[in-house]
Amino acid sequence: MPGDFGLEILWEDCAVLLNKSILVLGDLHIGLEGDLARSGYRLIRLHRKMLAKTLDLLDRTKADKLVLLGDVKHSIGNPTDNELYQLEEFFLNIPVKTKVVLGNHDGGLKDYLASWGIDFSPSAGYMEDEFYLFHGNAKPREEAKDAKLLIACHWHPTVRIKDKRGVIYQERVWIRVPTTLGPDLLMLPTFNDLLGGADIEDIHETWFRIEEAEIFLTDGVFLGKYEDVVTHR
Ligand SMILES: [Fe+2]
Repeated sequence: MPGDFGLEILWEDCAVLLNKSILVLGDLHIGLEGDLARSGYRLIRLHRKMLAKTLDLLDRTKADKLVLLGDVKHSIGNPTDNELYQLEEFFLNIPVKTKVVLGNHDGGLKDYLASWGIDFSPSAGYMEDEFYLFHGNAKPREEAKDAKLLIACHWHPTVRIKDKRGVIYQERVWIRVPTTLGPDLLMLPTFNDLLGGADIEDIHETWFRIEEAEIFLTDGVFLGKYEDVVTHR
């Protein structure tokens, strides 16, 4: 995994820092607890925990810009009142210029983002300092071929691990995979640590072969190449 060319991977934080100035993270799914409440789980104010984590990261990295790589909210359609309250509290407390790449969960958000002074881009993404940033429900635009690296959220990549007693648990992972577009793709784990995810075997796109992926745990340990991880579990 590259540590050069202006990319710093903040492994355990599930975020990256570009050129020492732009903090990038995604898949916050603000409002997730509304969904979990319907299943009987009583969690509140997850957005405040993520806001505190984001503010801490901005403070530690001294970044002067924040880019959220999509799925800032959890519901797929228009935002609920509760989500709007949480989103507003989140965005109005971010002290740096912020941009949102709209994900497939970010329906009905554009006008609200504009009213909070937040810039946004479509899911297909844009070039930011020679890195191409997008949300993976869309294929990157043609210009992505000139990027040093493609960086995206969306897949919620995880690995299912089975222990000796047969208990299966999921670990969030980072994935780096070559693409047919030219540059490699770096998939970020979800910033929201309560989200479920897709096992690596369930990730499929036409423009990369997941079988060529390298997989890293969130502490930065290289877990292995796809084939090794899938074969040996
Ligand atoms: Fe997501």
